[in-house]
Amino acid sequence: MIELKEVQKEYQMGEVQVQALKSLDLEITRGEFLSIMGPSGSGKSTLLHILGGLDLPSAGEYFLEEVEISELSDRELSRIRNHHFGFVFQSYNLFPELTALENVTVPLLYAKKPAKERNARATELLTSLGMGQRLKHYPGQLSGGEQQRVAVARALANDPTLLLADEPTGNLATNQGQEIMKIFEQLHKEGVTIVLVTHDPVVGAYGKRLVGLRDGHLVVDRPIERGQPIDLLEIVQEAG
Ligand SMILES: Nc1ncnc2c1ncn2[C@@H]1O[C@H](COP(=O)(O)OP(=O)(O)O)[C@@H](O)[C@H]1O
Ligand SMILES: [Mg+2]
Repeated sequence: MIELKEVQKEYQMGEVQVQALKSLDLEITRGEFLSIMGPSGSGKSTLLHILGGLDLPSAGEYFLEEVEISELSDRELSRIRNHHFGFVFQSYNLFPELTALENVTVPLLYAKKPAKERNARATELLTSLGMGQRLKHYPGQLSGGEQQRVAVARALANDPTLLLADEPTGNLATNQGQEIMKIFEQLHKEGVTIVLVTHDPVVGAYGKRLVGLRDGHLVVDRPIERGQPIDLLEIVQEAG
């Protein structure tokens, strides 16, 4: 589904150049559940942004279903993002002036779905995520865990083939975070490809494949055995 070849990303910070990713190779097959882990500043978010087409590599190649992404127009790329990718971020990014239901209908509006279908789909999704009693609530009236469930419902509105999540449990209490991860586990069973960025070993253990980053290098790539805790030292100490 996805192939990154020698992908690099540099950021220019005034005079200083930061090499956030240094020649990274990564293949992702449909239906996989990756946990991308590593210390703060190791390039996790940068990698997720590139995978999601939110940012382009400075060098190297990104093939999405055999198509080199840099050859797509902005319009084609945003169409792919809107129709095939779902994004979940640490800070929920909900519209505060819209209800839970309205927030979930936004991507369906972009996809030009009729109002009736938008409301039915959003209601169905929120209900399936245990939010059926909160449809008319505004984000400010919801707990963090509930807001994140709305954000997950929104990410799923267009039935994405790829779900990208950057520290989705980062602002949540442990039990709320586990509720979100159970949803991810279910989506994985349903065949959604998931790329999860987290620095929490308990959260990361929900994935099936561990990708460890250190200083912009991919230093670990191995299966995750069910119920086996992840030791972050493995990523920090592994010889690059
Ligand atoms: N927009 C940006 N401009 C400049 N430097 C950035 C930008 N985004 C990230 N970086 C730098 O790139 C490196 C990797 O960042 P990031 O991918 O956010 O790491 P992580 O998500 O693992 O904490 C860090 O050194 C960070 O400071
Ligand atoms: Mg980050």
